[in-house]
Amino acid sequence: MNLRIPGPTPCPEEVLAAGAKQMMNHRGPEFAQILRRVTDGLNWVFGSSTDVLSFTTSGTGGLEVAIVNTLSPGDRVLSVSIGSFGDRIKSIAKTYGADVVSYALEWGEAADPAVVGKMLDDDASIKAVLVTHNETSTGVTNPLEAIAKEVRARDRLIIVDAVSSMSSIPCPVERWDLDVVVSGSQKGWMVPPGLAFVYMGERAWKANADAKMPRFYFDAAKARDSLEKLQNPWTPAMSIYYAMDKAFELIRAEGLEGVFTRHEAIASYTRQRVKGLGLKLVPVNEQFASNTVTAVWWPDGVDGKAISKRAREEHGIVLGGGQGKLDGKIFRVGHLGWVQQHEVAEALDIVEKLLAEATASA
Ligand SMILES: Cc1ncc(COP(=O)(O)O)c(C=O)c1O
Repeated sequence: MNLRIPGPTPCPEEVLAAGAKQMMNHRGPEFAQILRRVTDGLNWVFGSSTDVLSFTTSGTGGLEVAIVNTLSPGDRVLSVSIGSFGDRIKSIAKTYGADVVSYALEWGEAADPAVVGKMLDDDASIKAVLVTHNETSTGVTNPLEAIAKEVRARDRLIIVDAVSSMSSIPCPVERWDLDVVVSGSQKGWMVPPGLAFVYMGERAWKANADAKMPRFYFDAAKARDSLEKLQNPWTPAMSIYYAMDKAFELIRAEGLEGVFTRHEAIASYTRQRVKGLGLKLVPVNEQFASNTVTAVWWPDGVDGKAISKRAREEHGIVLGGGQGKLDGKIFRVGHLGWVQQHEVAEALDIVEKLLAEATASA
């Protein structure tokens, strides 16, 4: 099976084997060492000098952690949404009673930092900006560093969904002066789903002291206090920590720059190949095309779902589909985490063959 969805991503055998290890006391010294090593690894990849928290949940849970630990009902927030996941963090904020102002773009577009700055200038009551770094539904990476500068200059909080970018695309949280940044284990980290990682900087902790949104399981202060004792407040998904411990050995061996460069090279290959097939990328401006997932329009008149079905059933190639309003209109090729160029090449060879057959029989 060639799993080319943008998460969950395939995991190296040694990572899976590590995850299959026997259970241990989650409050004992052996697990404490694992938690320390994994947290050190997270700090390194996030570029954080304070401990990144981990929660037993998926990426969406991590986004919920970010919202409920920094905001109060009635707080005005600016949602910058360029796709399905931008809409999701906005929904979480709304669900917990935030007063949301929207900067919503056409799917395929990237956000304009200057517009974010202007919207903040126009409304001094906006307390925080919610933004997706890498919008997995459209294969677009926002110019996060520039957006962060606009937010910083106006002294608001910036809360970032880096679920499908962190560990694959540079996102140094302290260098870019971000406040809250979330990622999820099943993306670029080469481990199964089950853990979300949440960085909270100094301003975020200050906001936390006054944040009134309800929380219990996802209480970041409880997680931080437990981490000081090298524990989790609750029983964690231990197998994923075991796997993560092993995955960091692989990431360290390749080096972070090496990982970023590999993602860049494979993404660039994917885009060239897709365009070579005469297909159109979903990102309107290729400058913002993602290095972790490539989203592509099916040509008019082609039954894309039927092609994806044949790719899976006849060739073992699993492509990502379109989400929400893009359902049936696009396909997505995930190239994050444990991936090599030949795997993408194999998937696109099959797309080429099946498209040719579909067009010939039309
Ligand atoms: C950018 C982004 N945000 C959030 C999520 C949600 O993560 P999960 O499905 O792990 O809850 C995803 C998952 O695809 C994602 O790609």
